[in-house]
Amino acid sequence: MSKATDELFKNVISHAKEYGFVFQSSEIYDGLSAVYDYGQNGSELKNNLKTYWWKAMVQMHENIVGIDAAIFMHPTTWKASGHVDGFSDPMIDNKDSKKRYRADQLLEDKIAKYEADGKTDKAAALQAAMDDALKAENLPRLKELIVEQEIACPVSGTRNWTDVRQFNLMFSTQMGAVADDADVVYLRPETAQGIFVNYLNVQKSGRMKIPFGIAQIGKAFRNEVIARQFIIRMREFEQMEMQFFVRPGTQKEWFNQWKEERLKWHLALSIDPAKYRFHEHTKLAHYADAAYDIEFEFPFGFKEVEGIHSRTDFDLSQHQKFSGKKMQYFDPEVNPETNQPYGNYIPYVIETSIGLDRLFLLTLVSAYEEEDLSTAEKQDSRTVLRLHPCLAPVKAAIFPLTKKDGLPEKAREIMDKLKLDYNIQYEEKDAIGKRYRRQDAIGTPFCITVDHQTLEDDTVTIRYRDTMSQERVAAADLERIIGNLVSW
Ligand code: GAP
Repeated sequence: MSKATDELFKNVISHAKEYGFVFQSSEIYDGLSAVYDYGQNGSELKNNLKTYWWKAMVQMHENIVGIDAAIFMHPTTWKASGHVDGFSDPMIDNKDSKKRYRADQLLEDKIAKYEADGKTDKAAALQAAMDDALKAENLPRLKELIVEQEIACPVSGTRNWTDVRQFNLMFSTQMGAVADDADVVYLRPETAQGIFVNYLNVQKSGRMKIPFGIAQIGKAFRNEVIARQFIIRMREFEQMEMQFFVRPGTQKEWFNQWKEERLKWHLALSIDPAKYRFHEHTKLAHYADAAYDIEFEFPFGFKEVEGIHSRTDFDLSQHQKFSGKKMQYFDPEVNPETNQPYGNYIPYVIETSIGLDRLFLLTLVSAYEEEDLSTAEKQDSRTVLRLHPCLAPVKAAIFPLTKKDGLPEKAREIMDKLKLDYNIQYEEKDAIGKRYRRQDAIGTPFCITVDHQTLEDDTVTIRYRDTMSQERVAAADLERIIGNLVSW
C-alpha cells in the first residue's frame, strides 16, 4: 500500500468513528480484538445494504424466499457439515514474541513483499511451494518454509517457532446448566447450514418447485487467528447468503448464471467496474466442486467480498446421513429423454455468500472523498461521502436558518411530513455552512433550509450534496424530489 493510500485508509477509519459509523467493541476496555460495533449512521447504512440485497434476491425473484434461522444449531449439524473436523487454519506461534500467526498468511505477506520488490520469480516459487504444502496438508513443510523465509520475525534472526498446528475456527459454548461434553454447542461459522437443515420445511410449506432458492441474512462467528484490516476479518460478522437448489446435472449452468448476476448486482451500486474482478479458487473448500470469488480493490489490495460456490449435494447428503432423515425432493417434471418424471433426488446447491461487513467497507471507501474546494481567494475543503442516495443513512437534513421567528416550528412541520417515509435529521446548531459540512460527511444527499421567505410562500432552499448547488423549490415538492432519488 502506498503512503498516500495508507494515509487515506487511516482517514476512512477515523472518519467512520468520528461520524458514528463504526466503533471498536468495548472501547472503554481497550477494545476486543476483531470485534466492532456499528454506530448510529453505520447501522442505518448497514440496514440499507441489507435491504438492497434482500430486495434484489427475494423480492425480485419469485422462486427465492427468505428465512431467519437461529445462530445455535444442533451440534451434529457441524459434524455433518465437516466443520468440526475440517474448518481450521494452520497456526504457528513465535516463541520469542509470543505472537500467534496464520502460517499461510505469513507466507502470503512474504509473497506480496517479493512482488512489490519486483522479485516475481521468488514470489512464484514460494507461492507454488505453499500451495503444494497446503494441498497436501503438509504442516511440517509449512513450518520449514516459514523458517526458511524468516518471515515476520519481530526479533531479527529469530527462528524460534512452534510447530504448525490446525486450529479450529468455531467458537463453542455450553447449552444448559450442566457443563458436560454433550452440551457443547457452536456459534455458527456460516449461515448456510440453517438453510440446509430447513430446506424441506421451506419447500413443503412454501410449495416450492426446483429450481428455488432460500436467502438469509445473519451473524456468523469465526475465531480468526489474526484480525486484519479493520472490518475485513472479524470474529463476529454478518453474512448474506442464498442457497439455490437445482436438479443434478444443471449446476454448472446455474453456477455461471449466479456468478454473472451477482457481479451485476455489485455494479448496479455505481462503483467503478475496474475495482472488481473474479478470482477462481484452485484450492476448493471441502464441499465445493467449483468456486469463484468476487474481489474488490480496497486501498490495501484486492480482497474477497463474495463467494459463489457450487456445493454439489454434499451438505444435504451429509445431513441425510447424520440425521437419518430423507433429504430428497420429488421432482414431478417429465424428463424428455426418458419420458418419466425426474423423481426423487437430493438437489445440488449453488450458493452466493457475501460478507455484509466487507460490503459496508467497500461502500465506505468508495464513497469517501476529501475534496479540495479552494479558490484563488481562499483555501477550503470538505470530506464528503458520495453514497448512493438509496444507501445514505440520512436522506435529508432540515435546517431552520435561525432559531427564532417561527422558523424551527416551520422546519419541524415540514420534517414531520417527510419523516413518515424517510430518515430525516433536524439541525439548528451552528452556521448553515457548518451544518452542510456535517451532512456531507455522513453522505446526506439533500439539505433543506427553511428561511423567512418560507413563511411567506412555502418555498425552501434545497442543496444537493454532490454538486453543492442550491435551488428554491416548493415545500410541497420535496417528497417527490427526494423520492425520485432515494427510492429503490
Ligand atoms: N457459506 C459459505 C461461506 O461462508 P466464505 O467464503 O467462508 O463462505 C463468505 O464466506 C463471505 O463471508 C466472504 O466472502 C466474506 O465476505 C465474508 N467473511 C468470511 N469470513 C469473514 C470474517 N472473518 N470477517 C468478515 N467477513 C467474513
